[in-house]
Amino acid sequence: MTSTLTEPQTQTTAHDMARAFADRPALMLRAVGVHKTFTLHGQGGIEIEALAGVSLDVARGECVVLVGPSGAGKSTLLRCLYGNYLASAGTIAVRCGAAVDGAECAAEDSTRTNPAAHCIAITNAEPRDVLHLRRHMMGYVSQFLRVIPRVPTLALVAAPLVARGVPEDEAEHRAAALLERLNIPKRLWPLAPATFSGGEQQRVNIARGLIADHPLLLLDEPTASLDAENRDVVADLIVEARERGAAIVGIFHDEDTRLKVATRRLELQPPLSCGANALTPAALH
Ligand SMILES: Nc1ncnc2c1ncn2[C@@H]1O[C@H](COP(=O)(O)OP(=O)(O)O)[C@@H](O)[C@H]1O
Ligand SMILES: [Mg+2]
Repeated sequence: MTSTLTEPQTQTTAHDMARAFADRPALMLRAVGVHKTFTLHGQGGIEIEALAGVSLDVARGECVVLVGPSGAGKSTLLRCLYGNYLASAGTIAVRCGAAVDGAECAAEDSTRTNPAAHCIAITNAEPRDVLHLRRHMMGYVSQFLRVIPRVPTLALVAAPLVARGVPEDEAEHRAAALLERLNIPKRLWPLAPATFSGGEQQRVNIARGLIADHPLLLLDEPTASLDAENRDVVADLIVEARERGAAIVGIFHDEDTRLKVATRRLELQPPLSCGANALTPAALH
């Protein structure tokens, strides 16, 4: 199936993209006409269209909540934004440059990145540029913690800060404060989280995703297995991140959390049921 969209903003050039980031200092993420089709090679090459022309702008201080039925492509869109999945068509760009507060975007580990370029198109980036964006610009909280055997919880949570050059002592100090806030008992901090409960693992995952104060946060159901009290703590942390200027795209299974954190909603529909989950140009602003 192909998209039926004809709006002008379903396509963009590298020049237009760079211009948009130069003209709008608050713009952190722009996705234009994103399609994603999966080919099931093990099942006769069947194709599944998950996204059919999604366009989205996210600015500093915004939290865009993705809504829509299961299978609408919400997680797929987040993975495309993070560069885990390569979009089949369309362009996704993330701000990157010396002008981003605290993001150390001109770090020497990305000699390919031109600090004056304003943005990197993740749909067209070299792997090292994707890694650079993840280290300095994007935090991603998946639904489940990927446990690294034998790494203690405190070190696991501190790691994204250490990767950004924060001394280990200070990073662990901040990790401890965040774990305390998320009600992870102190006796668990020296242990690897493999044996933790689902809710404990999810809170460790959230701490790891939020600790580095990335300017762009992608959150895939971070509160799915939490009790009401911990859900509120996470919602507070997300609102604090938003208020300090982070741009956030998130999926939340409960309406309470959506109401607390969202500044805007973006509805996705499964492409097969409605033709295309494309947005009108009103979604771009
Ligand atoms: N890795 C994958 N391989 C094949 N199909 C996938 C893959 N990931 C997602 N899909 C399909 O894409 C569609 C959208 O899935 P998903 O993004 O997980 O939806 P949501 O998060 O809105 O519930 C579904 O039909 C799903 O089966
Ligand atoms: Mg999902």
